[in-house]
Amino acid sequence: MSSRLSLLVDLASLLGREVDLDALMTTACERVATALAAERATVWLVDADAGDLVARLAVLPELPELRIPATRGLAGWVARTGETVRIDDVSADARFDASVDRETGFTTRSILAVPVRDEGRGPVRGVLQVLNRAPSADGAVWDDDDERYLAALALQIGRALALTTLRAERADGPGVTLRGPFNRIVGRSRELFDVYERVGLAAQTDATVLLRGASGTGKGVFARAIHVNSSRQTGPFVTVDCTTLPLTLVESELFGHERGAFTGADRRVPGKVELASGGTLFLDEIGDMPPEAQGKLLRLLQDRAFERVGGRTTLSADARILCATHQDLERLVREGRFRADLYYRVRVVEIEIPSLASRGRAEVEALARHFADMYARRYGRPAPTIRDDALEVLAAHDWPGNVRELEHWIESAVVLSPSGVIGAEHLPRVRTAPVDDADADGVPFGLPLDEATRRYVEAAVRSAGGNKAEAARKLGVGRNTIGRILRRRRDM
Ligand SMILES: Nc1ncnc2c1ncn2[C@@H]1O[C@H](COP(=O)(O)OP(=O)(O)OP(=O)(O)O)[C@@H](O)[C@H]1O
Ligand SMILES: [Mg+2]
Repeated sequence: MSSRLSLLVDLASLLGREVDLDALMTTACERVATALAAERATVWLVDADAGDLVARLAVLPELPELRIPATRGLAGWVARTGETVRIDDVSADARFDASVDRETGFTTRSILAVPVRDEGRGPVRGVLQVLNRAPSADGAVWDDDDERYLAALALQIGRALALTTLRAERADGPGVTLRGPFNRIVGRSRELFDVYERVGLAAQTDATVLLRGASGTGKGVFARAIHVNSSRQTGPFVTVDCTTLPLTLVESELFGHERGAFTGADRRVPGKVELASGGTLFLDEIGDMPPEAQGKLLRLLQDRAFERVGGRTTLSADARILCATHQDLERLVREGRFRADLYYRVRVVEIEIPSLASRGRAEVEALARHFADMYARRYGRPAPTIRDDALEVLAAHDWPGNVRELEHWIESAVVLSPSGVIGAEHLPRVRTAPVDDADADGVPFGLPLDEATRRYVEAAVRSAGGNKAEAARKLGVGRNTIGRILRRRRDM
């Protein structure tokens, strides 16, 4: 029994990563089917919004999602009643509904199905079922041991679900909500679906990808998502932060050095390129790479060739390369601060991560709930709720620091609210005092011009009821200019 239970342990390694949730469920099902010698295993999830049962069947690509009302069939019965179903011959059971079989072309003969709940208690989140196994000598298909075993697996899957973003909106509410196709990445806005699509496609290849977007939009998150969903997922993911690399260290950091390469080099040290072998090398903030070091990088990207500092042999890199920047690379190229040839190598595939504000209010709320759950678990706070007045404050803010700023706000609110109820009083007070048309020009003297400009623009946006396009018209500048000025706050 214990060896049978260890079978889901591998899932644990996937739970903390930005893995495709379908892939996670598929892996779980494959393991369960093997362990029970069943022809098929399925995890049905109860969709909290529609109340339906949803399953993904990776083995049937033409049917990416199977949806049945929870009022039908044996799985529906388990979802409704929370009771186990064990039937050796489904044709004799009136509750059996053959319509799913007709859709999938599968013939169900026998079924064992158990509910999936948080820690085996509370509302049903899903149903774990196995179908068809060769009967034993006495003609029975499933026995008590199988039933106990499947229940134990369902407990594991329930625990796994609770650690993913495929979770209930509220702990006491029914079902689960799909917050996005990748684990730990929340967002269902159209803006983000473009990103998901590109991330999914990029993950299928080894192409160099450039992730662009303002600070805190999630470039690092999506870089990891590309890696963990690629064929290199079991290899290392190695990050090089180009902002913190002094020129003198760039080479040895990236390429390593031989013993005796310089004073103090008393042994050979591999560089990040070598460490990323078989995996992915993530060059974060590549726009900040010192110009003198860019040539070496070009050679790496172009020929996958490099030498350790002090070494003679040319080595070949086996790392997939991802890059990210919040900089305007085109401008850097024009100003001669970024090599044009490197620029073209870096931006083979571009993925632009949209600002948080552009994704809409619903996304801000979903992310806020996600972070509230996450930090409540981390700090041992009760299951959190966010009051309407807090949601209003979140909706009114323009998020110059994007998702990272929101994450910080919510983390601090969770800490400051031991009851778990987050209200406006737990959120930071945005420092600028409310200003309306009448005193928009009351910006005090003594401010740096940048700051004064930003406050003035903020006041203009407020007096336009939050409408940036209208504020831009009033100020006689483009909407982008306004966006840029408002974003400056993140640097303070
Ligand atoms: N869609 C998302 N769902 C859940 N968490 C997110 C999402 N996007 C970003 N985050 C979280 O927000 C924080 C900032 O994300 P990340 O570090 O990837 O941003 P970035 O674009 O790399 O920012 P910077 O340019 O400042 O490095 C991280 O803690 C990350 O986990
Ligand atoms: Mg980053």
